Amino acid sequence: MNILGVETSCDETSAAVVCDGARILSNIVSSQIDVHRPYGGVVPELASRNHLQLVDVVIRDALAAAQLTFANIDVVAATYGPGLASSLLIGLNVAKGMALTLEKPFIGVNHVEAHMYSPWLLSDDCANGPPADVLPMISLVVSGGHTILALVTGIGQHKILGQTMDDAAGEAFDKVAKLLGLSYPGGPEIDRLAKHGDRDAIAFPRSMLDDPGYDFSFSGLKTSVLYYVRKNPQASVADICASFQEAVVDVLVGKAVRAAVENGARAVSASGGVSINSRFREKLGAACAGHGLRALLAPQELCTDNAAMIAALAYYKLRDGRTSNLSLEVAPSIGLGVDS
Ligand code: KG4
Ligand code: ZN
Repeated sequence: MNILGVETSCDETSAAVVCDGARILSNIVSSQIDVHRPYGGVVPELASRNHLQLVDVVIRDALAAAQLTFANIDVVAATYGPGLASSLLIGLNVAKGMALTLEKPFIGVNHVEAHMYSPWLLSDDCANGPPADVLPMISLVVSGGHTILALVTGIGQHKILGQTMDDAAGEAFDKVAKLLGLSYPGGPEIDRLAKHGDRDAIAFPRSMLDDPGYDFSFSGLKTSVLYYVRKNPQASVADICASFQEAVVDVLVGKAVRAAVENGARAVSASGGVSINSRFREKLGAACAGHGLRALLAPQELCTDNAAMIAALAYYKLRDGRTSNLSLEVAPSIGLGVDS
């Protein structure tokens, strides 16, 4: 079963072909980072215009890379939310048009749900379906727009344990980078500079780490960095990056692993741009090993926005009979747990 997935929820135009929910035949991602960098963040109108220009090229490239034609596509899937409305509209409409013309089923996929399941569905040992020996699993989605911790007991079966009360983890990276004069997106810049800094140089707060719940808060940490920079204009940027990054990572890893232990989980999975962070991967791996938990971390190209995760989850939605109508609308603010 070949599913053609399309993802245009933010600033990546992506199309992928995934066979049977696990085998990635192609996954083309065209990033608009260079378009938005001069503005220090994503400009919605520029994003949608770029999607409009590129979406057909990316789809053709995905078919070519998979060495397939439209005749080999069994199902078409697209992200319908959450995300920028004007960006979602491009991918959703083009996918609906393809499904209509090809007379194939159409499946709308929740972007955050796809992030949540992708490290599991697309892991190397999933070629014959996702292994059950990781369930129940704690799944952490940490991106520019989301910080969500969920307990996953099966495909489409998840309970949200916690989320951010204010800024998303990636948003905190981007805002701190901006106040340090670093370029957008800030996460990769901070990750790079932190390698040359002392992570114990500044004791930034670990907000809500000792809170008994699983919610997060990053805006206080961002403000602490701002005050520190104002008070210490000569401080080493590398030390600030390393110390800030350590505070974010301690909270993310601490909460995810505690959630796993307290909920009897067997694995912790992480997805979203922040899960690329080298210190996060190192600390999550070590903490999981220390607690006998399996760490499921997708390769970098599957952590950030991509259509392979959309096509993969669509396979299981189809299997459960959850296809979508061609009247499906974009849902820019949709949460988890609402079906299409
Ligand atoms: O998942 P993603 O590509 O897009 C969405 O927000 O959905 O995530 C982008 C976010 C940005 O905030 C970026 O700064 C952050 O992921 N990011 C990182 C790293 N690479 C990307 N944050 C920390 N360390 C990184 N290496
Ligand atoms: Zn995303």
